Amino acid sequence: MPGDQGVPPDEEPLIGDGVTPGITRVADTVRRPVRPFTATIQAYLAHLHQAGFSDAPKPLGIDEQGREVVSFVAGDVPREPLPSEATGEDVLAALAGLIRRLHDAAQNWTPPRDAVWATLPGTQDIPLVDTGAELVGHRDYCPGNIVFRDGLPAALIDFDLARPTSRLYDIANALYWWAPLLHPKDRPPALAGADIPHRTAVFADAYGMSDQQRRDLIPLARRMVHRFHLTSRAAAGADPVFRRFWEQGVKDRMPRAEAWLAQEGPAIAARLIAG
Ligand SMILES: Nc1ncnc2c1ncn2[C@@H]1O[C@H](COP(=O)(O)OP(=O)(O)OP(=O)(O)O)[C@@H](O)[C@H]1O
Ligand SMILES: [Mg+2]
Repeated sequence: MPGDQGVPPDEEPLIGDGVTPGITRVADTVRRPVRPFTATIQAYLAHLHQAGFSDAPKPLGIDEQGREVVSFVAGDVPREPLPSEATGEDVLAALAGLIRRLHDAAQNWTPPRDAVWATLPGTQDIPLVDTGAELVGHRDYCPGNIVFRDGLPAALIDFDLARPTSRLYDIANALYWWAPLLHPKDRPPALAGADIPHRTAVFADAYGMSDQQRRDLIPLARRMVHRFHLTSRAAAGADPVFRRFWEQGVKDRMPRAEAWLAQEGPAIAARLIAG
C-alpha cells in the first residue's frame, strides 16, 4: 500500500537538491530511476569495487519495478551552505585523498564501446572543457554527493555526471565546491575570510598533485567556471529545477565566481608552485 505521498511504507524518499526525482531508500539499498547512462555507470561502479575502491555505492542491478538499485552508503551528507564542521583543512585533505584513491582505481578502466554519459538539460551543444580524457572521474563533488563519517569525507555517491575526464578537471571540480573557488559573498559563512590559496595548497599536497597539474590548475578552473556559467544558464532555460537554482542565486554567483577567479587565480597559482 502506498503511504501518504504515494511512497510504499518501507521506502524512505531521499531528496538532495531535487535534480533527480524518485530516489528512495529501501533497507540498505537505494532505488533510482533508470536513465540512458545507468548501465554505463553501473559498469563503472562495478569496476571501482573490483579495483579495490569500496567508498562508492555498489551496483546491484535493476529491481522488479525497473529501477536502478545501488547500496545505501551509511554516514552524513552535508547540505549547502556547508556547516562550519565541514570547512576544516582536515576535511579538504581527506577529500583529496578519497579522490586520489578513486582516480587510481579508475585509471585502468576502459568504458564499453556503447557507453552513454549524462548531459544537463539544454547543454548538449556547449563544448566540454575536459577534453584529453585520462580516466572516468566523478565530476560532481557538490556537498550533497559526499558522505561523511566521523567528521570527514569517507565516500562518494551520485555518479550521474561521471564521464571520461582528466584528473585535473576532477580536482578543479572538487576545489570549486570545497576550497571553494567562489567570491567571499557566495561562500559558507565559516569560509568568507578563508585563505583560498592556502586551502588549495592543502588539497594539492594531500592529493599529491604534480608540478604540471599545479601549473595547469588555474587556467583549467577558469574555463570550467566559465562553462558552469554557460551550462547553468542553458539548463535554466530548459528545465524548471535548474531555472529555480538560477533565479535563487546562480545567475549572480557564476559571474562573481568568474571575476573573482580572474583576480585571485595568480595568487592561488603562485602558492601552488611555491610548494
Ligand atoms: N547510495 C546512497 N547512499 C546514501 N545516501 C544516498 C545514496 N544515494 C543518494 N543518497 C542520498 O540522497 C540524496 C539525493 O541523491 P542524489 O545526490 O543521487 O540525487 P540528485 O537529486 O541527483 O542530487 P544532487 O543534485 O543533489 O546532486 C543524496 O544527497 C544523499 O543524501
Ligand atoms: Mg547528488
